[in-house]
Amino acid sequence: MNVTDSILWVGVHDHDIDLFEGQYSVPQGMSYNSYVILDEHPAVLDTVDARFGAEWLEKVSAALNGREPAYLIVQHVEPDHSGSILRFAEKYPRAAVVAAPKAFPMLKAFYGLEPEKKLEVKADTVLDLGKHSLRFVPAPMVHWPEVTLTYDAAEKVLFSADAFGKFGAWDTDAPWEDEARRYYIGIVGKFGAPVQALLKKAAALEIGTICPLHGPILKEDLGKYLALYDTWSAYRPETAGVFIAFTSVYGHTREAAELLAGTLEKAGTPVKLLDLARCDLAEAVAQAFRYDRLVLASTSYNGGVYPRMRQFADELAEHGFQNRKVGMVENGSWGPCAAGTIRARLEGCRNLTWLEPTVTIRSALDETSRTALEQLAEALK
Ligand code: FEO
Repeated sequence: MNVTDSILWVGVHDHDIDLFEGQYSVPQGMSYNSYVILDEHPAVLDTVDARFGAEWLEKVSAALNGREPAYLIVQHVEPDHSGSILRFAEKYPRAAVVAAPKAFPMLKAFYGLEPEKKLEVKADTVLDLGKHSLRFVPAPMVHWPEVTLTYDAAEKVLFSADAFGKFGAWDTDAPWEDEARRYYIGIVGKFGAPVQALLKKAAALEIGTICPLHGPILKEDLGKYLALYDTWSAYRPETAGVFIAFTSVYGHTREAAELLAGTLEKAGTPVKLLDLARCDLAEAVAQAFRYDRLVLASTSYNGGVYPRMRQFADELAEHGFQNRKVGMVENGSWGPCAAGTIRARLEGCRNLTWLEPTVTIRSALDETSRTALEQLAEALK
């Protein structure tokens, strides 16, 4: 597949994978992108997951049409992109490995690879391939410290490493936003400041095409993708509305969550409701980042909070959740303690506005808790 006449996609689609990075559900698979730039000195950008090394090398070989690559550019050492590097080095021993200084110790640690020919790139490095003159954009912590993007001014292409990627193999027909949001918040969400720094550097470049390492090549409406990345990395809400995340053992907390959702919807407030025990937790985290208001409704459990809610609160804290209004509904038959436990786990989150009242249910909804729920609904509108 051609990105342009001289830039070819040589990636692979993975429909065998169950969990990406060992934890993220990817029902539509995953793509590992790789690119060949044909020029006087041909270059290959990144490899692919080791399970696809043979298929990938055949594609690289076909794209090069008998020529030898002069360079392998390693934008990111994470094994979903570097996993086939030894196969490449064996087939093309004369190619120089081009990467950030921090990448080389990682390549040695993962693969024992110490390339004979290497080029350490920094922000002012220019790699002349002939017609294409590549510049490098260090992007530490988007998503690892060695990450370096590549810009080709000749064709206005930004090779963006993990940035602007998504879950889901892109040979399937799926809208970009939902799986790109879940991917971004899950994998890079913690690193908002480095992404903001990258966006500032990208603003100085004339970009016509974005070639990420996952997901489709982006050629149109780039402003939309850049704006979403700005929103996500600045921890701004994307959508006005209330996300209600609940756990329930016998259905009473669910009843309260659904009653609250119904009250808000009647008042015209958009609501998203998810049962944390039955949904993908990464999707719930992404929805919490998406909406400007969050309600956590949970049973008390073992002197704390129901395990799935505890895990969810920890995930929010770990991903840098901030700048949101938060309401709480707790249930406890003899010692309600869910709300206090949740709040303690979110203590490190910046700029959370805790809404009053916290609703306490004693086993099942009664007049007192129904009234409190109505008051919380008012505070959420
Ligand atoms: Fe797609 Fe951070 O690797």
